[in-house]
Amino acid sequence: MKKIGILTGGGDCPGLNAVIRAVAKSASLKYNYEVIGIEDGFDGLVLPNKTRVLTPREVRGILPIGGTILGTSNRANPFEYRITNNIKVEVRDVSKEIIKNIEFLGLAALVVIGGDGSLKIAYELFKMGCPIVGVPKTIDNDILATDVTFGFNTAVQTATDALDRLHTTAESHHRIMVVEVMGRYVGWIALETGVGGGADVILIPEIPFDIVKVCKKINDRKKSGSKSSIVVVSEGAKPIGGELSVMGSAEKGGSAERLGGIANKVGAEIAKCTEMEVRVTVLGHLQRGGTPNAFDRILSTRFGVAVVDLIANKQLGEMVCLKGQKIESVSLSEVIKGQKKVPTEEGLVKAAESIGINFGR
Ligand code: F6P
Repeated sequence: MKKIGILTGGGDCPGLNAVIRAVAKSASLKYNYEVIGIEDGFDGLVLPNKTRVLTPREVRGILPIGGTILGTSNRANPFEYRITNNIKVEVRDVSKEIIKNIEFLGLAALVVIGGDGSLKIAYELFKMGCPIVGVPKTIDNDILATDVTFGFNTAVQTATDALDRLHTTAESHHRIMVVEVMGRYVGWIALETGVGGGADVILIPEIPFDIVKVCKKINDRKKSGSKSSIVVVSEGAKPIGGELSVMGSAEKGGSAERLGGIANKVGAEIAKCTEMEVRVTVLGHLQRGGTPNAFDRILSTRFGVAVVDLIANKQLGEMVCLKGQKIESVSLSEVIKGQKKVPTEEGLVKAAESIGINFGR
């Protein structure tokens, strides 16, 4: 019986378990493969006793559950793997050990469900001869070559629900609510949440903002009788000529800086230029946790089935993706070329501007 491995890398997001379930079920039912679940991302291929067989029975009931039953790690980069001995930290390249472990486990292929960081690692390992296929995952929706990633839709729904709640309290108190959403260096979550939740201002990384224009929009609204305003700020937004708001450098082996704090800065600036009270809400990891919505469950299931088909068709080094209504695949070499940014002169940004939403430009 052919064996395939599966791991989830990087930050979790709603829909991971739905992919794991679909892989375990279709591998077994359609191809009679055995699926080995690898725990805690690439950690599970470095440390001992971190694998388990995933039969269809094992994945029963996990479709609606948030997070990942396999656990994840956004610190386990095999090319810069941190080993802590007491307080001493050693950084080593363990990629060759990982490849040996994949051989030792007898895996004909490894499914990596990950965001840009994990997919870059996957591509590097593939180039070294590792039989890898990818599934794109992130609430940020920043992965090239797929129209959308699973997890994004649920995150937007969660943030939109939060905006609905903030509207009523803002209106009662005649306040301005500034809401910070995730998204790292792209503004997809902010844009869709802002439009879906009826925001008045949306600030995204792709459009550096002018705070004077934001204040004017808010003051104009007040003059025309609006009792409150909602400002959605993407964590990666920055003022024209200004810097990103970073909460701290990569912690304990994390590969990326931690963004955050821009909403407080924007809130403070708005407080100076209006007479209204300002309150700031940071949604944070609420956007990542919890049950996936129907859209993400379905997309995750389609991705899970398709990635097993890639293995069966020997399309190693590829990632499943959504193009329009169809599930397709693309070489990992294409995926790692950059990030998918929000287009600023077409589509939803322009539609939003047509209904008076301000982007600080
Ligand atoms: O990439 C997903 C994401 O949730 C980003 O939107 C956010 O900046 C980051 O991960 C937070 O990472 P952590 O869970 O390490 O704080």
